[in-house]
Amino acid sequence: MRDKVEKRYDRFSRFYDFLDTFPGLGGAEKRWRRHAIDMLGIRKGDRVVDIATGSGLIIPWIAEKEPAEIIGIDISRNMLGEAKKRAKKLGVGNLTLIRGDVERLPFRDESIERVISTFSLTTIPDYERAIDEMLRIMKPEGAGVILDTGRPDKLWSRILHAFLVPVAKLFGRTHFDRDVCLSLSKKARIIERTEFYGGMVYCILIVKRIS
Ligand SMILES: C[S@@+](CC[C@H](N)C(=O)[O-])C[C@H]1O[C@@H](n2cnc3c(N)ncnc32)[C@H](O)[C@@H]1O
Repeated sequence: MRDKVEKRYDRFSRFYDFLDTFPGLGGAEKRWRRHAIDMLGIRKGDRVVDIATGSGLIIPWIAEKEPAEIIGIDISRNMLGEAKKRAKKLGVGNLTLIRGDVERLPFRDESIERVISTFSLTTIPDYERAIDEMLRIMKPEGAGVILDTGRPDKLWSRILHAFLVPVAKLFGRTHFDRDVCLSLSKKARIIERTEFYGGMVYCILIVKRIS
């Protein structure tokens, strides 16, 4: 399964930015990313891990907040190649890119201040495990943000969502119908949630549950 994901994104890497930042979205994707980064509350000196960083679309926004280090991890070599090019072009020097599986993050327990995942939990094969890993590496005083596609409540967006679910599955192997929010609410403490397009896209700030 992971091999398939890797191969798909390796093939797709050169077109990913064009499709993800599709002009038809009217710049909405940029607003969502900006919102996610503001919500994450990065402080100078933080280490920020970007789960399934892909072509690194969120990296420039993270870099603006001047963290000590940005670490992007992804399974696709070619997507990481795109992220590397972007960082070089923008002069982001404090970036480490790791080729790896986010279902087994190469970090110690409670060692990272800020963790982010943008549009990846709907593509990662075992997303439950990826959420567990995000929470495992987060410091007790740390925080995480998830920006992704969700299940909308409003009628008009439910109709559009019902149409998009099979299309995303067929062409992108992306699971718009995954109830990631439900998993998050069971595993973490949700501090803030913002919805866009009637809930079709959401942004959630999480912290660890104190047991
Ligand atoms: C839809 S893209 C999102 C990329 C980026 N986060 C963004 O906001 O544009 C999904 C990414 O998840 C990566 N991915 C999927 N499963 C993974 C896994 N188990 N470990 C690491 N990366 C994975 C893919 O290679 C791809 O780059």
